[in-house]
Amino acid sequence: MSSIHTPVLLREMIGALSPKKDGVYVDATFGGGGYTQAILNSESCSVIAIDRDPAAVQRAETFQTLYPGRFQLLSGCFGDLDQLLEPFGPIDGIVFDFGVSSYQLDEAERGFSFRFEGPLDMRMSQTGLSAQDVVNTYSAEDLAKILWLYGEEPQSRRIAKAIVEYRQKKPFTTTLELAHLIRQIVRRKDGLDPATLTFQALRIFVNNELIEIDKALKKSLSFLSDGGRIVTVTFHGLEDRLVKNWLRDKSAPAAYSRFGSSLQQLKPLFKKPLCPSPQEIQKNPRSRSAKLRAFTLEASRLAAV
Ligand SMILES: C[S@@+](CC[C@H](N)C(=O)[O-])C[C@H]1O[C@@H](n2cnc3c(N)ncnc32)[C@H](O)[C@@H]1O
Repeated sequence: MSSIHTPVLLREMIGALSPKKDGVYVDATFGGGGYTQAILNSESCSVIAIDRDPAAVQRAETFQTLYPGRFQLLSGCFGDLDQLLEPFGPIDGIVFDFGVSSYQLDEAERGFSFRFEGPLDMRMSQTGLSAQDVVNTYSAEDLAKILWLYGEEPQSRRIAKAIVEYRQKKPFTTTLELAHLIRQIVRRKDGLDPATLTFQALRIFVNNELIEIDKALKKSLSFLSDGGRIVTVTFHGLEDRLVKNWLRDKSAPAAYSRFGSSLQQLKPLFKKPLCPSPQEIQKNPRSRSAKLRAFTLEASRLAAV
């Protein structure tokens, strides 16, 4: 189970998803399987899990033995939810736990962390463009754009210029090489490691994370049963803003699901997002910016008129 979760977040996720007997649920971000396990243990339902990381797919093998006939894992990106879920009937709930897993962060070889020496990789799917390719080949202008858009890094231009100067002497190969450079030029008063926002930005860019989230949210409603639920857990403002904007778009009555009644409305289950308590954050600092939001797809009252 990913150590980013606090017991309260897990409990709130289950409360919001509200699994029912024989229900079918999608865990779109399997990771270490913590959410899947909590869902499968809460009710005699089944879970279709998704992950793009081959290492997560391997971890899922034990779940097939532990929960025979109730679990399957689809290897792929949740941005392709429509293709992945095409063979299935109505889904009673979908949960998204966005971002990177503790497994990915804590394994130096994956190159996600500025705390451990590893190759500057950051690819969840382990294919395609790596962070190393980006820092060694993109122009200062493009690097600055990436750091600003995906890290909201106030010193994006300074860092981008320093990256380009550094690589003229030697191309970047490791995480700590980049982290050390940023620590030399950026000072922060809030205690955050100066490399945090640059690493976040590169990771989001390399994995196309925001586009993936936008695509997945837009596609998710068409698979839900009437009363189906969506639960999202976000870890920074960029992700959370996408979820809020999506709700704004989808809260007007319309025919959203191919399985439900003719007119439906997406409604939030809570007015405000649920966040970990200060005590939980103290025990588990990685959870500090987690926000849980939950929604239900209901038949609209207009439909009955
Ligand atoms: C925060 S972790 C999920 C942790 C999980 N809830 C648990 O309990 O262990 C996010 C996971 O989603 C996966 N992921 C991120 N973006 C994805 C995408 N676009 N498509 C499929 N999987 C994705 C990552 O590879 C990672 O394993």
